[in-house]
Amino acid sequence: MLVKELRRKFLEFFSERGHAVIPSASLIPQEDPTVLFTTAGMHPLVPYLIGQTHPMGKRLASVQKCVRTGDIDEVGDNRHLTFFEMLGNWSLGDYFKKEAIAWSFEFLTDKKWLGLDAEKIFVTVFTGDKTAPRDEESIGIWQTQFAMRGMVAKVSQTGKDEPATGVKGPRIYLYPKEKNWWGPAGATGPCGSDTEMFYDTGRPHDPAYGKACHPNCDCGRFVEIWNDVFMEYEKRADGSFAALKQKNVDTGMGLERTAAILQGKDNVFETEIFSGIFGALADLSGIKYGRDEAHDRSFRIVADHLRTAVFIIGDEHGVTPSNLGQGYIVRRLIRRAIREGRRLGIKKTFTDQLGTVVIDEFGSHYKELETNRERIVSELKKEEEKFGKTLEQGLKEFEKMMKDRVISGKEAFILFSTYGFPLELTQELVGERGGNLDVEEFKREFEQHQELSRTATEGLFKGGLADHSVETTCLHTATHLLHAALRKVLGSDVAQKGSNITTERLRFDFTYSKKMTAEQIKEVEGLVNDAITKNLPVQCEEMTVAAAKKSGAIGLFEEKYGEKVKVYFVGAKPDYFSIEICGGPHAGHTSELKKFKIIKEEAVVAGVRRIKATIG
Ligand code: ALA
Repeated sequence: MLVKELRRKFLEFFSERGHAVIPSASLIPQEDPTVLFTTAGMHPLVPYLIGQTHPMGKRLASVQKCVRTGDIDEVGDNRHLTFFEMLGNWSLGDYFKKEAIAWSFEFLTDKKWLGLDAEKIFVTVFTGDKTAPRDEESIGIWQTQFAMRGMVAKVSQTGKDEPATGVKGPRIYLYPKEKNWWGPAGATGPCGSDTEMFYDTGRPHDPAYGKACHPNCDCGRFVEIWNDVFMEYEKRADGSFAALKQKNVDTGMGLERTAAILQGKDNVFETEIFSGIFGALADLSGIKYGRDEAHDRSFRIVADHLRTAVFIIGDEHGVTPSNLGQGYIVRRLIRRAIREGRRLGIKKTFTDQLGTVVIDEFGSHYKELETNRERIVSELKKEEEKFGKTLEQGLKEFEKMMKDRVISGKEAFILFSTYGFPLELTQELVGERGGNLDVEEFKREFEQHQELSRTATEGLFKGGLADHSVETTCLHTATHLLHAALRKVLGSDVAQKGSNITTERLRFDFTYSKKMTAEQIKEVEGLVNDAITKNLPVQCEEMTVAAAKKSGAIGLFEEKYGEKVKVYFVGAKPDYFSIEICGGPHAGHTSELKKFKIIKEEAVVAGVRRIKATIG
């Protein structure tokens, strides 16, 4: 089954069951720039998962474009992708576990739909903890579902200890939160336990990954294909979980992985999705895919990275290569692809040609690629010309610098500023040679030359999720000041419910039952501006959760932070203006914020107020 048919079947299945088909949202989040890219189908739906009415109704389905850059360095193996399509269906306070699981299983196994062998499907369920109990209901539903197909589904209590021995072994595996819980996307928001469906490829277990194989073993035998999340909680700013007003279902199935299984491939790159790109790459390089692992890896990296770059540049809110935020990610992707292309022996400009192949392949489904064809091709060309000029020379320089097996921060900065090597590319080169690179010194160099604050530099090279431009970094610090000021004026019952920062403004939701008076708003504004005028230092300390609590920090006390948490102190000992647990980044001093202004105070839902504010 080709991906075209898989998309169509999925949407048909769910529209037959009363779901409205919604178009893919932009890859560049419009509602929530605290994430750089849309990483799941639920992302654009957050307002509706927490209670707003969706104009298309309570049952929705979509094929969503997603970008996840967290695993960018893993790309090159048989399953990691930076861009992928997610098939999803949603219940916004409508159906729940029973229907969701039954439909997932029907779609996967019924001959009319995907027709996968039920005996190859293994599932995982949340084992329970202090937040939420073991999901007995899902266990029961799965057992009924397997029984309907003549199978006895045993439950493995521990997940890990019991080997998946096929039909005779357990079929339902229980795991804790790290595996069977989804969300929230930000620090607060909708979340819940999930049940995941895995396909047994039948590959022998690789003991390097542990004694026994089980669905979440990383050896590659089991491939996760679908996740049904039961969103019935909202994580609050104080780290507690409250029941949502409505019980939602949020599901996500990986299009590329499922296609690979349906096509009998154990490698997403061997599906028709990549055949056009691989064909063009083979023509350009004179090398056939399948020659050896090293060349195959280059094929996969080039294909994955350029496909992602095409989708980001060609998005309805497209971004072009730059040294900031999403633009830096596109730049990294393109430049890494160019370097891998050179490894395949391609000497001339090639990314524009491959970009055209990607547009031809996906443009009929994603019309924006056709609309933006010219821009995509010209941006790729421009970026390659820019980097192509310096790449060879830069690699020579690099070899010279590597003579002593160490690249200093200054040298890495020369590679960055003169030869256009993203830091991560230099890191990769150094890694391949088994050398060392002084990243901290690089960052210091970078700060000095760009006149950036430490925190802005950190943010840029995190490669992580948040948009860390100078504006958003300062607005983030303003959010801490606002939070503290609100607690001083309205009382310590004020708790953060949500935060959203764009380059223009901050938005802060908090618990408070009444409309704020004009006097209160003025007082809060005044307190924040006082703190700005005093030019208070912003300092960060890592400490244990217990020490953070003792210091009076507000924010999330969550096990996900592990042993140590980062605590941001604004002000001077002992009279800190604000102490808050937070991942950062922040401005170095409050004066960077210049002037704070509340532009709006309004209700979100009963008991929750929203403030929008600007700085500068
Ligand atoms: N939001 C869920 C996921 O991405 C469905 O796995």
